[in-house]
Formats: sequence, structure tokens, C-alpha cells
Amino acid sequence: MSKQTFISSKWIKTRVVLRDQTLARHVPVTRRLTRERLAEMLHRHHMVYVKPDSGAKGVGVMKVDKSKRTYRYQRDVRAVTFPTFHTMFHSLTKHIGRKPYLVQKGIHVLRHQGRPYDFRVMIQKNPAGKWERTGTVARVAHPRKIVSNGSQGGTIFPAHALLVPAAGKKQASRLLARMDRLAYLTAAQFSRAYPAMKELGLDIAIDHRLNPWILEVNTCPDPCPFTKLPNKSMIRKIVAYARAYGKRYCLKCSKAKRAPQRRR
Ligand SMILES: Nc1ncnc2c1ncn2[C@@H]1O[C@H](COP(=O)(O)OP(=O)(O)O)[C@@H](O)[C@H]1O
Ligand SMILES: [Mg+2]
Repeated sequence: MSKQTFISSKWIKTRVVLRDQTLARHVPVTRRLTRERLAEMLHRHHMVYVKPDSGAKGVGVMKVDKSKRTYRYQRDVRAVTFPTFHTMFHSLTKHIGRKPYLVQKGIHVLRHQGRPYDFRVMIQKNPAGKWERTGTVARVAHPRKIVSNGSQGGTIFPAHALLVPAAGKKQASRLLARMDRLAYLTAAQFSRAYPAMKELGLDIAIDHRLNPWILEVNTCPDPCPFTKLPNKSMIRKIVAYARAYGKRYCLKCSKAKRAPQRRR
């Protein structure tokens, strides 16, 4: 039996998730990047994300889109536009080099003050050995970026602080419950393949129709976003459960920003 608890390949992790039929409906089409597949995916979806197969913290993630007369891609804070697919791809490959990359259908995610945001859902084995969702936060992308990662200047909000204004109270709790269900199903699939797994962090985006999409699954999730919440109950539980399975986190979290607190 595999004792593996860390998997870096997004391709392998995506295939684990796709084994569950319910989860499969919540994974944007993902393929290994080639010139032909990118052209085809852009033709079909108009907007896609390309990302390193073994990447983290939003590094190397780019958004590519196509409109009638132009092709454009953005990495970091810079978007560049080209008249043809050929010229765009030539430029894009400079950033890709020889690294294996994936191309994923782009989700038109919810925005806060124009900035895209998504959610990090943390699920861990509790001291009784059962999977338990221990925390959910919203991560709002840096004002000029297309990735929400805290390490890229993202801002951390309590999930309901963004979902309630976007969807109403009732839908917001329904969405949080749906995200929990996706996390439990994901944990069940990973447990099957890797029984030693103790924690997972799902990146889940919500589109304009309020459908949740699993963008990726982290097998070594960073607890830092949870330290930025005004309420410390999630981070306390996360740390306590990790300690129970023999893991200590470094909680010196400098990069992600704290959401401005509303005055009462
Ligand atoms: N398919 C997608 N549609 C919309 N946004 C995406 C998509 N894939 C990634 N992103 C954005 O890019 C960020 C980083 O991508 P992710 O796949 O989580 O890689 P990393 O391992 O670098 O965190 C996500 O948190 C999200 O903000
Ligand atoms: Mg991520």
C-alpha cells in the first residue's frame, strides 16, 4: 500500500478526482498542454488557464483568451496582445520552456471590487481518524493579477463575507455546504489511492451561475490563509488536528493580506 502523502503533479491529482462521477462534473476540462490542444481549447472555451503541472503558489500560471481579432495572455500584472495564435504561442512558450504544463478551461469566477476570488477548503483527518472539513476561506486576487494565491498578494476574507453579498444568505450557506461535500468526496478518492493521506486543501471557484469548480487539490495545504481571519477558531482546529497526526506548521505568514475589518 502506498504511504505517499505528497503528490506534486496536478495531472495525477486531477485524474484521482475524475474517478468520482459527481466530482468529475465539477472539474474544468483539463489537458496536458500542447500547441494543438491550446488552439483547440481556446477555440472552444475562449478563455483558458495554463499552469505548470508541478507548480504552486500561482507561479507560472497564465490566463489566455481569444477574441475576434486578438489573442492575449496575462502573467503577473502584465497582459500582452497578439494578432495571431502563432505569435501569441511563440511568446507564451518563452515562459513555459521545457516544463510540463496543463491547459484548463477558464472559469468566469465571482469578483469582489473587480478582483476574482475563490475559496480554499481545508479537510483533515480528525483525531478519531475521520475526514473533517476544518476551514474555508475566500481569497481575493491582487488587484492586477489573475491568481488568488495569498503568496501573490491575495487578500483573505471569511467565506461568508463575500458569498452573502454575492448570492444571498440562503444560497451562500447552500454553496458552503456544496463545497464541503466536494471536499469530502475528494478526500474519499484520495484516501483510496493514498491511504496515508491526512490533509487536503481544495481550491474551489464559483462561476456566475453559482456552480462550484475544483481548480486544484493541494496535498500539502498551507494553513497560512487561516491565520489571517479575525476569528481564530479555524486555525486553532487545523493546528490541533495536524499536531494529532504528527505535523507542525510554520505559521510565520507574511505574504497574504488581511481583509479590512468592518467597523461595527
Ligand atoms: N481554470 C481556472 N479558471 C479560473 N481561474 C483559475 C483557473 N485555474 C487557476 N485559476 C486561478 O489561478 C490560481 C492558481 O492556480 P492553481 O491551479 O491553484 O495553481 P497553484 O498550485 O499555483 O496554486 C487559482 O487559485 C485561481 O485564482
Ligand atoms: Mg492553488
